Amino acid sequence: MINDFIYDIPVRVYFGRDQLKNLGSELKKYGTRVLMTYGGGSIKRIGLYDKVVKEIKDAGMELYELSGIEPNPRIDSVRRGAQMCKDHNIDVLLAVGGGSTIDATKFMAAGALVDHDPWDFMDYSKQAPIERALPIVTILTLSATGSEMDTGGVITNPETKDKNGRLAPALLPRASFLDPTNTFTVSPYQTACGAADMMSHIIEVYFNLQDDLYMLDCFMEGLMKTIIRFAPVAMKEPENYEARANLMWTSSWAINGFINGGKRKAWSCHPMEHELSAYYDITHGLGLAILTPRWMKYCLSEATVSKYVQFGVNVFGIDPSLPPMEIANKAIDCLSDFLFGTLQLKRTLPEVGIDEEHFATMASKAVGGDTLHGFIDLKQHDVEEIFKMCMK
Ligand code: NZQ
Ligand code: ZN
Repeated sequence: MINDFIYDIPVRVYFGRDQLKNLGSELKKYGTRVLMTYGGGSIKRIGLYDKVVKEIKDAGMELYELSGIEPNPRIDSVRRGAQMCKDHNIDVLLAVGGGSTIDATKFMAAGALVDHDPWDFMDYSKQAPIERALPIVTILTLSATGSEMDTGGVITNPETKDKNGRLAPALLPRASFLDPTNTFTVSPYQTACGAADMMSHIIEVYFNLQDDLYMLDCFMEGLMKTIIRFAPVAMKEPENYEARANLMWTSSWAINGFINGGKRKAWSCHPMEHELSAYYDITHGLGLAILTPRWMKYCLSEATVSKYVQFGVNVFGIDPSLPPMEIANKAIDCLSDFLFGTLQLKRTLPEVGIDEEHFATMASKAVGGDTLHGFIDLKQHDVEEIFKMCMK
């Protein structure tokens, strides 16, 4: 049976090369004092910073800045931003960067309106309500997370070694500026990690045995084929507009809620990967690339094989007349070839400096202390096994 669902993603998207002229009018809808947030300086190197500042000044707005948001953004950055919003009576936040900058900005916007520590939003034992947030506008510079069009964010607390995610409608950006030329300078490595991340966002939903709309499966297959086609082009020709544009719009649609339909299963690789990033600060997309084919192997059985067949035939063009198990294994090989061959990402955990030391703790946290109800249910020992499969 196809479940009921609500689709409601009211983000205004300004897509294309010449949209920044709309920034001032968009920001002014919310007031006059803007906090612009960004990361380690890439936006200055690519010349975007100057253009954005000019638009804000031309709009007659008062500009405040917070820089230095880390990849795998940390709670201290969020605390700093929330405090700045309070100190300067900020009306609207403008996040300029990748997923890390946008995620951190979301929780600054929520933290600005409460008296407690913003970590209380992320702490799974507290789950402080997020009913309101200051308005957020984003200018995306890296196609990967979809944070520009979703209600979520992920924040790290280095003291407790937690990397926790949280969803809340109030965190949805009011508008996002998606100019593919802003991603021309993204390195081949970050482009590959972004592609692996988007691919995972789709796989987490697609690999699901609940009934759902056929049109959504076709849509997801189209998104995956788009990533497979254009990620290598963008890596080789960083200024290929068609490739960057396809990746950018795919990043948003992979996670903006549309593909979920009525599916209600939890994601599997993301909770596992967040433990790797929390303990070892590795790039999110890289961790997903290493985990995903192993997880797929682990979950393959007579009960699940039909989904792998659909994936293998429709995404990688594998011969449908082969036996189902053969198609399934070929599909996993095709995905591995894409991730570790075409995208040139590292294949094993030891290659990225991870050993077995924390597997038990990370696995226990990944399953929330009990069971991860994803494509197939996973217990702590299952996740430990999947981590071990990533050792070679
Ligand atoms: O910090 P700067 O100097 O900006 O450099 C960044 C950073 O070093 C650089 N970069 C960004 N745009 C660039 C650029 N370099 C050159 N040219 C440009 N145009 O790229 C590096 C990585 O940036 P980051 O924002 O960390 O990458 P990404 O967009 O992949 O974000 C990753 C974070 O998002 C979370 C991840 O867990 C991770 O913390 N996620 C957020 C999600 C969400 N909100 O829904 C879902 C995802 O599954 C994910 O968990
Ligand atoms: Zn992700």
